[in-house]
Amino acid sequence: MPESRRPAVESRIHGAETPPAALYTDPALFERIRERVFARSWQLVGDLESVRVPGQVSPVALLEGCLDEPLLLTRDAGDRLHCLSNVCTHRGMLVAETAGVLAGLRCRYHGRRFTLDGRFVSMPEFQDAEDFPRPCDDLPSLPLEPFRPWLFASLDPDVSFAELVGPVAARVGHLPLARATLDPARSRDYVVRANWALYCDNYLEGFHIPFVHAGLAGALDYASCRTELFAHANLQVGVASDTDALVPVAPETVDNGQRIAAYYFWLFPNTMLNVYPWGVSVNIVKPLAVDRTRVTFRSYVWAPELLEAGAGADLDRVEREDEVVVEAVQRGLRGRLYGRGRYSPSREAGVHHFHRLLYERLGEPAGA
Ligand code: FES
Ligand SMILES: [Fe+2]
Repeated sequence: MPESRRPAVESRIHGAETPPAALYTDPALFERIRERVFARSWQLVGDLESVRVPGQVSPVALLEGCLDEPLLLTRDAGDRLHCLSNVCTHRGMLVAETAGVLAGLRCRYHGRRFTLDGRFVSMPEFQDAEDFPRPCDDLPSLPLEPFRPWLFASLDPDVSFAELVGPVAARVGHLPLARATLDPARSRDYVVRANWALYCDNYLEGFHIPFVHAGLAGALDYASCRTELFAHANLQVGVASDTDALVPVAPETVDNGQRIAAYYFWLFPNTMLNVYPWGVSVNIVKPLAVDRTRVTFRSYVWAPELLEAGAGADLDRVEREDEVVVEAVQRGLRGRLYGRGRYSPSREAGVHHFHRLLYERLGEPAGA
Protein backbone atom coordinates (compact mmCIF):
# COMPACT_ATOMS: atom_id res chain seq x y z
CA MET A 1 0.00 0.00 0.00
CA PRO A 2 1.35 3.49 -0.79
CA GLU A 3 2.40 5.31 2.38
CA SER A 4 -0.36 7.97 2.02
CA ARG A 5 -3.15 5.31 1.80
CA ARG A 6 -2.09 3.29 4.82
CA PRO A 7 -4.38 3.59 7.84
CA ALA A 8 -3.19 5.99 10.49
CA VAL A 9 -2.90 3.15 12.97
CA GLU A 10 -2.57 -0.40 11.65
CA SER A 11 -5.25 -2.86 12.75
CA ARG A 12 -2.71 -5.47 13.93
CA ILE A 13 -1.22 -4.14 17.12
CA HIS A 14 1.92 -6.24 16.64
CA GLY A 15 3.14 -4.11 13.77
CA ALA A 16 1.27 -0.88 14.45
CA GLU A 17 2.85 2.48 15.18
CA THR A 18 1.33 4.90 17.69
CA PRO A 19 -0.12 8.19 16.34
CA PRO A 20 2.16 11.03 15.29
CA ALA A 21 2.60 13.85 17.79
CA ALA A 22 0.27 16.03 15.67
CA LEU A 23 -2.71 14.18 17.14
CA TYR A 24 -1.88 15.80 20.47
CA THR A 25 -0.42 19.13 19.36
CA ASP A 26 -2.12 20.33 16.14
CA PRO A 27 -4.85 22.94 16.85
CA ALA A 28 -6.56 22.27 13.48
CA LEU A 29 -6.81 18.57 14.24
CA PHE A 30 -8.14 19.41 17.69
CA GLU A 31 -10.98 21.42 16.07
CA ARG A 32 -11.73 18.59 13.64
CA ILE A 33 -11.98 16.13 16.53
CA ARG A 34 -14.40 18.44 18.34
CA GLU A 35 -16.80 18.34 15.38
CA ARG A 36 -16.30 14.84 14.05
CA VAL A 37 -15.88 12.98 17.32
CA PHE A 38 -17.34 14.91 20.24
CA ALA A 39 -20.33 16.47 18.43
CA ARG A 40 -21.39 12.91 17.45
CA SER A 41 -20.75 11.26 20.81
CA TRP A 42 -22.89 10.36 23.82
CA GLN A 43 -22.18 12.52 26.83
CA LEU A 44 -23.24 12.38 30.45
CA VAL A 45 -25.56 15.35 30.98
CA GLY A 46 -26.81 14.79 34.51
CA ASP A 47 -28.39 12.56 37.10
CA LEU A 48 -31.94 11.25 37.14
CA GLU A 49 -32.14 12.89 40.56
CA SER A 50 -32.12 16.36 38.96
CA VAL A 51 -35.41 15.64 37.13
CA ARG A 52 -37.10 13.34 39.59
CA VAL A 53 -40.64 14.71 39.62
CA PRO A 54 -42.96 16.01 36.88
CA GLY A 55 -42.38 19.70 36.24
CA GLN A 56 -38.70 19.61 37.19
CA VAL A 57 -36.34 21.38 34.79
CA SER A 58 -32.55 21.45 34.92
CA PRO A 59 -30.35 23.51 32.59
CA VAL A 60 -27.05 21.83 31.62
CA ALA A 61 -24.21 22.43 29.16
CA LEU A 62 -23.33 19.53 26.89
CA LEU A 63 -19.64 18.77 27.41
CA GLU A 64 -18.75 21.98 29.19
CA GLY A 65 -15.72 23.80 27.80
CA CYS A 66 -15.76 21.81 24.53
CA LEU A 67 -19.22 21.68 22.92
CA ASP A 68 -21.02 23.94 25.42
CA GLU A 69 -24.41 23.31 23.84
CA PRO A 70 -27.06 24.81 26.17
CA LEU A 71 -29.56 22.05 26.97
CA LEU A 72 -32.52 21.67 29.28
CA LEU A 73 -33.52 18.44 30.99
CA THR A 74 -37.23 18.31 31.77
CA ARG A 75 -39.80 15.89 33.14
CA ASP A 76 -43.24 16.71 31.75
CA ALA A 77 -46.65 16.32 33.40
CA GLY A 78 -46.96 12.88 31.86
CA ASP A 79 -43.76 11.82 33.67
CA ARG A 80 -41.71 11.66 30.46
CA LEU A 81 -38.11 12.85 30.33
CA HIS A 82 -36.84 15.22 27.66
CA CYS A 83 -33.60 16.81 26.65
CA LEU A 84 -34.35 20.07 24.83
CA SER A 85 -32.34 22.87 23.36
CA ASN A 86 -32.28 25.60 26.00
CA VAL A 87 -32.04 28.29 23.33
CA CYS A 88 -35.20 30.29 22.59
CA THR A 89 -36.29 29.93 18.97
CA HIS A 90 -37.05 33.69 18.79
CA ARG A 91 -33.68 35.40 19.17
CA GLY A 92 -31.58 32.94 21.09
CA MET A 93 -32.03 33.78 24.77
CA LEU A 94 -31.50 30.95 27.24
CA VAL A 95 -35.00 29.70 28.04
CA ALA A 96 -34.36 28.44 31.59
CA GLU A 97 -31.48 29.91 33.55
CA THR A 98 -32.02 28.03 36.80
CA ALA A 99 -33.36 24.66 37.89
CA GLY A 100 -36.87 24.51 39.32
CA VAL A 101 -40.34 23.00 39.12
CA LEU A 102 -42.52 24.62 36.45
CA ALA A 103 -45.83 24.14 34.68
CA GLY A 104 -44.31 25.32 31.41
CA LEU A 105 -41.40 27.28 29.97
CA ARG A 106 -41.43 31.01 29.34
CA CYS A 107 -38.54 32.93 27.84
CA ARG A 108 -38.01 36.00 29.97
CA TYR A 109 -36.70 38.13 27.10
CA HIS A 110 -39.96 38.62 25.10
CA GLY A 111 -42.30 36.09 26.65
CA ARG A 112 -42.32 33.16 24.21
CA ARG A 113 -43.86 30.09 25.85
CA PHE A 114 -43.17 26.40 25.36
CA THR A 115 -44.46 23.18 26.92
CA LEU A 116 -42.09 21.04 28.99
CA ASP A 117 -41.69 18.75 25.98
CA GLY A 118 -40.53 21.70 23.89
CA ARG A 119 -43.60 22.59 21.82
CA PHE A 120 -44.23 26.26 20.99
CA VAL A 121 -47.30 27.55 22.88
CA SER A 122 -47.58 31.30 22.37
CA MET A 123 -45.74 34.53 21.60
CA PRO A 124 -46.84 38.13 22.18
CA GLU A 125 -47.01 40.57 19.24
CA PHE A 126 -46.75 37.92 16.53
CA GLN A 127 -50.41 38.06 15.35
CA ASP A 128 -49.34 39.59 12.04
CA ALA A 129 -46.33 37.35 11.43
CA GLU A 130 -46.89 35.17 8.38
CA ASP A 131 -46.53 31.43 8.34
CA PHE A 132 -46.12 31.39 12.11
CA PRO A 133 -45.59 29.32 14.15
CA ARG A 134 -43.69 26.72 12.16
CA PRO A 135 -42.31 23.38 13.46
CA CYS A 136 -38.90 25.04 13.80
CA ASP A 137 -40.37 27.35 16.45
CA ASP A 138 -40.51 24.37 18.81
CA LEU A 139 -37.41 23.75 20.90
CA PRO A 140 -35.26 21.06 19.23
CA SER A 141 -35.22 17.80 21.16
CA LEU A 142 -32.19 15.51 21.55
CA PRO A 143 -31.99 11.76 22.15
CA LEU A 144 -31.82 11.20 25.91
CA GLU A 145 -30.97 7.86 27.51
CA PRO A 146 -31.16 7.00 31.20
CA PHE A 147 -28.63 4.47 32.46
CA ARG A 148 -28.92 3.67 36.18
CA PRO A 149 -28.47 6.98 38.08
CA TRP A 150 -27.23 8.83 34.97
CA LEU A 151 -28.60 10.58 31.91
CA PHE A 152 -26.74 10.61 28.60
CA ALA A 153 -27.54 12.75 25.55
CA SER A 154 -26.13 13.30 22.09
CA LEU A 155 -26.52 15.98 19.42
CA ASP A 156 -26.18 13.50 16.58
CA PRO A 157 -25.14 10.03 17.77
CA ASP A 158 -22.97 7.92 15.50
CA VAL A 159 -23.65 4.75 17.53
CA SER A 160 -26.69 3.55 19.44
CA PHE A 161 -26.57 4.11 23.17
CA ALA A 162 -27.53 0.48 23.81
CA GLU A 163 -24.49 -0.64 21.84
CA LEU A 164 -22.24 1.74 23.74
CA VAL A 165 -23.27 0.74 27.28
CA GLY A 166 -24.23 -2.87 26.59
CA PRO A 167 -20.91 -4.25 27.91
CA VAL A 168 -21.28 -2.27 31.16
CA ALA A 169 -24.80 -3.52 31.79
CA ALA A 170 -23.76 -7.10 31.02
CA ARG A 171 -20.84 -7.05 33.43
CA VAL A 172 -21.98 -4.96 36.39
CA GLY A 173 -25.75 -4.75 35.90
CA HIS A 174 -26.24 -6.83 39.06
CA LEU A 175 -24.60 -4.16 41.25
CA PRO A 176 -26.79 -1.55 43.01
CA LEU A 177 -25.79 1.20 40.54
CA ALA A 178 -29.23 2.81 40.58
CA ARG A 179 -29.13 3.46 44.31
CA ALA A 180 -25.60 4.87 44.34
CA THR A 181 -25.74 8.49 45.44
CA LEU A 182 -23.48 11.32 44.40
CA ASP A 183 -21.02 12.29 47.13
CA PRO A 184 -20.08 15.93 46.41
CA ALA A 185 -17.27 15.82 48.99
CA ARG A 186 -15.55 13.14 46.93
CA SER A 187 -16.17 14.81 43.58
CA ARG A 188 -13.88 17.38 42.01
CA ASP A 189 -12.42 18.68 38.77
CA TYR A 190 -8.78 18.55 37.72
CA VAL A 191 -7.27 20.71 35.00
CA VAL A 192 -4.47 18.89 33.21
CA ARG A 193 -1.95 20.68 30.98
CA ALA A 194 -2.14 18.07 28.25
CA ASN A 195 -4.26 17.00 25.30
CA TRP A 196 -7.43 15.07 26.15
CA ALA A 197 -6.32 12.03 24.12
CA LEU A 198 -3.08 11.75 26.11
CA TYR A 199 -5.15 11.57 29.27
CA CYS A 200 -7.22 8.76 27.71
CA ASP A 201 -4.12 6.94 26.44
CA ASN A 202 -2.76 6.85 29.97
CA TYR A 203 -6.06 5.69 31.42
CA LEU A 204 -6.35 2.88 28.88
CA GLU A 205 -3.30 0.94 29.99
CA GLY A 206 -2.33 -0.49 33.37
CA PHE A 207 1.19 -0.92 31.99
CA HIS A 208 2.37 2.16 33.90
CA ILE A 209 0.86 1.17 37.26
CA PRO A 210 3.96 -0.57 38.68
CA PHE A 211 6.11 2.38 37.55
CA VAL A 212 3.87 5.32 38.47
CA HIS A 213 1.42 4.24 41.19
CA ALA A 214 3.21 2.60 44.12
CA GLY A 215 0.09 2.62 46.30
CA LEU A 216 -2.34 1.29 43.70
CA ALA A 217 0.15 -1.34 42.55
CA GLY A 218 -0.11 -3.00 45.98
CA ALA A 219 -3.87 -3.52 45.59
CA LEU A 220 -3.70 -5.13 42.14
CA ASP A 221 -2.35 -8.44 40.90
CA TYR A 222 -0.63 -6.90 37.87
CA ALA A 223 0.03 -10.21 36.08
CA SER A 224 -3.68 -11.12 36.14
CA CYS A 225 -5.07 -7.73 35.05
CA ARG A 226 -6.43 -7.81 31.50
CA THR A 227 -8.16 -5.71 28.85
CA GLU A 228 -11.27 -6.64 26.89
CA LEU A 229 -12.31 -4.79 23.73
CA PHE A 230 -15.88 -4.10 22.61
CA ALA A 231 -17.22 -2.25 19.57
CA HIS A 232 -17.14 1.26 21.08
CA ALA A 233 -15.87 0.65 24.59
CA ASN A 234 -13.31 -1.35 26.46
CA LEU A 235 -12.81 -2.78 29.91
CA GLN A 236 -9.77 -3.21 32.09
CA VAL A 237 -10.36 -5.86 34.70
CA GLY A 238 -8.40 -5.11 37.86
CA VAL A 239 -7.70 -8.36 39.69
CA ALA A 240 -7.11 -7.96 43.44
CA SER A 241 -3.85 -8.91 45.13
CA ASP A 242 -4.67 -9.70 48.74
CA THR A 243 -7.15 -6.99 49.60
CA ASP A 244 -10.45 -7.94 51.20
CA ALA A 245 -12.41 -5.21 49.44
CA LEU A 246 -13.79 -6.80 46.31
CA VAL A 247 -16.38 -5.97 43.68
CA PRO A 248 -19.16 -8.59 43.82
CA VAL A 249 -18.97 -10.63 40.62
CA ALA A 250 -22.02 -11.81 38.68
CA PRO A 251 -22.00 -15.64 38.63
CA GLU A 252 -22.77 -15.84 34.91
CA THR A 253 -19.75 -13.76 33.84
CA VAL A 254 -16.24 -14.92 32.94
CA ASP A 255 -15.01 -13.37 36.20
CA ASN A 256 -16.92 -15.88 38.32
CA GLY A 257 -14.64 -17.13 41.09
CA GLN A 258 -12.09 -14.33 40.63
CA ARG A 259 -11.16 -11.60 43.08
CA ILE A 260 -12.04 -8.36 41.31
CA ALA A 261 -10.63 -5.13 42.77
CA ALA A 262 -12.07 -2.84 40.08
CA TYR A 263 -13.69 -2.72 36.65
CA TYR A 264 -12.44 0.18 34.54
CA PHE A 265 -14.92 0.82 31.71
CA TRP A 266 -14.15 3.34 29.01
CA LEU A 267 -16.88 4.49 26.61
CA PHE A 268 -15.65 6.13 23.41
CA PRO A 269 -14.44 8.81 23.40
CA ASN A 270 -14.22 10.32 26.90
CA THR A 271 -16.37 8.62 29.53
CA MET A 272 -14.85 6.40 32.23
CA LEU A 273 -16.91 4.37 34.68
CA ASN A 274 -14.64 2.96 37.37
CA VAL A 275 -16.47 0.38 39.45
CA TYR A 276 -15.02 -0.17 42.91
CA PRO A 277 -16.26 -2.09 45.97
CA TRP A 278 -17.72 1.18 47.31
CA GLY A 279 -19.47 2.41 44.13
CA VAL A 280 -18.57 4.12 40.87
CA SER A 281 -16.12 6.92 40.14
CA VAL A 282 -17.25 8.58 36.91
CA ASN A 283 -14.55 10.48 35.04
CA ILE A 284 -15.51 12.78 32.18
CA VAL A 285 -12.59 14.01 30.07
CA LYS A 286 -13.38 17.49 28.71
CA PRO A 287 -11.09 18.94 26.03
CA LEU A 288 -10.57 22.66 26.68
CA ALA A 289 -7.75 23.37 24.21
CA VAL A 290 -5.22 21.32 22.28
CA ASP A 291 -3.01 21.18 25.37
CA ARG A 292 -5.52 21.65 28.17
CA THR A 293 -8.11 19.26 29.57
CA ARG A 294 -10.59 19.30 32.41
CA VAL A 295 -11.30 15.95 34.05
CA THR A 296 -14.44 15.80 36.15
CA PHE A 297 -14.52 13.15 38.88
CA ARG A 298 -17.91 12.27 40.36
CA SER A 299 -18.19 9.63 43.09
CA TYR A 300 -21.43 7.63 43.32
CA VAL A 301 -21.37 5.63 46.54
CA TRP A 302 -23.35 2.58 47.67
CA ALA A 303 -20.98 1.16 50.35
CA PRO A 304 -19.34 4.10 52.19
CA GLU A 305 -17.61 1.75 54.65
CA LEU A 306 -15.39 0.53 51.78
CA LEU A 307 -14.29 3.97 50.54
CA GLU A 308 -10.75 3.67 51.84
CA ALA A 309 -10.14 0.07 50.82
CA GLY A 310 -8.37 -1.56 47.88
CA ALA A 311 -8.05 -0.12 44.37
CA GLY A 312 -10.75 2.50 45.00
CA ALA A 313 -8.85 4.20 47.82
CA ASP A 314 -7.06 7.53 47.53
CA LEU A 315 -8.12 8.33 43.98
CA ASP A 316 -6.79 11.86 44.37
CA ARG A 317 -3.23 10.61 44.81
CA VAL A 318 -3.55 8.31 41.78
CA GLU A 319 -4.89 11.21 39.72
CA ARG A 320 -2.01 13.49 40.70
CA GLU A 321 0.48 10.76 39.82
CA ASP A 322 -1.18 10.37 36.42
CA GLU A 323 -1.23 14.12 35.76
CA VAL A 324 2.50 14.44 36.31
CA VAL A 325 3.33 11.83 33.66
CA VAL A 326 0.68 12.93 31.18
CA GLU A 327 1.84 16.56 31.37
CA ALA A 328 5.44 15.43 30.87
CA VAL A 329 4.42 13.44 27.78
CA GLN A 330 2.76 16.56 26.36
CA ARG A 331 6.08 18.40 26.71
CA GLY A 332 7.94 15.45 25.20
CA LEU A 333 5.69 15.40 22.14
CA ARG A 334 6.49 19.04 21.40
CA GLY A 335 10.09 18.03 20.83
CA ARG A 336 11.43 17.73 17.28
CA LEU A 337 13.16 14.42 17.84
CA TYR A 338 10.15 12.20 18.56
CA GLY A 339 8.49 10.43 15.65
CA ARG A 340 6.07 7.64 16.42
CA GLY A 341 6.17 4.83 18.96
CA ARG A 342 5.03 1.20 19.09
CA TYR A 343 2.48 -0.66 21.21
CA SER A 344 3.03 -3.45 23.68
CA PRO A 345 0.77 -6.21 22.29
CA SER A 346 0.22 -7.62 25.79
CA ARG A 347 -0.34 -4.35 27.66
CA GLU A 348 -1.55 -1.62 25.31
CA ALA A 349 -4.51 -3.16 23.49
CA GLY A 350 -6.89 -0.57 24.98
CA VAL A 351 -4.77 2.35 23.78
CA HIS A 352 -4.52 0.84 20.30
CA HIS A 353 -8.30 0.29 20.25
CA PHE A 354 -8.89 3.95 21.17
CA HIS A 355 -6.57 5.19 18.42
CA ARG A 356 -8.24 2.96 15.83
CA LEU A 357 -11.72 4.26 16.79
CA LEU A 358 -10.51 7.85 16.74
CA TYR A 359 -8.93 7.72 13.28
CA GLU A 360 -11.92 5.78 11.97
CA ARG A 361 -14.07 8.82 12.88
CA LEU A 362 -11.56 11.20 11.35
CA GLY A 363 -11.48 9.11 8.18
CA GLU A 364 -7.98 10.05 7.25
CA PRO A 365 -4.46 8.72 7.14
CA ALA A 366 -2.03 9.57 9.90
CA GLY A 367 -0.31 12.46 8.13
CA ALA A 368 3.10 13.62 9.14
S1 FES B 1 -35.49 35.51 22.71
FE1 FES B 1 -37.00 34.39 23.71
S2 FES B 1 -38.78 35.52 23.44
FE2 FES B 1 -37.28 36.65 22.43
FE1 LIG C 1 -2.52 5.81 36.07
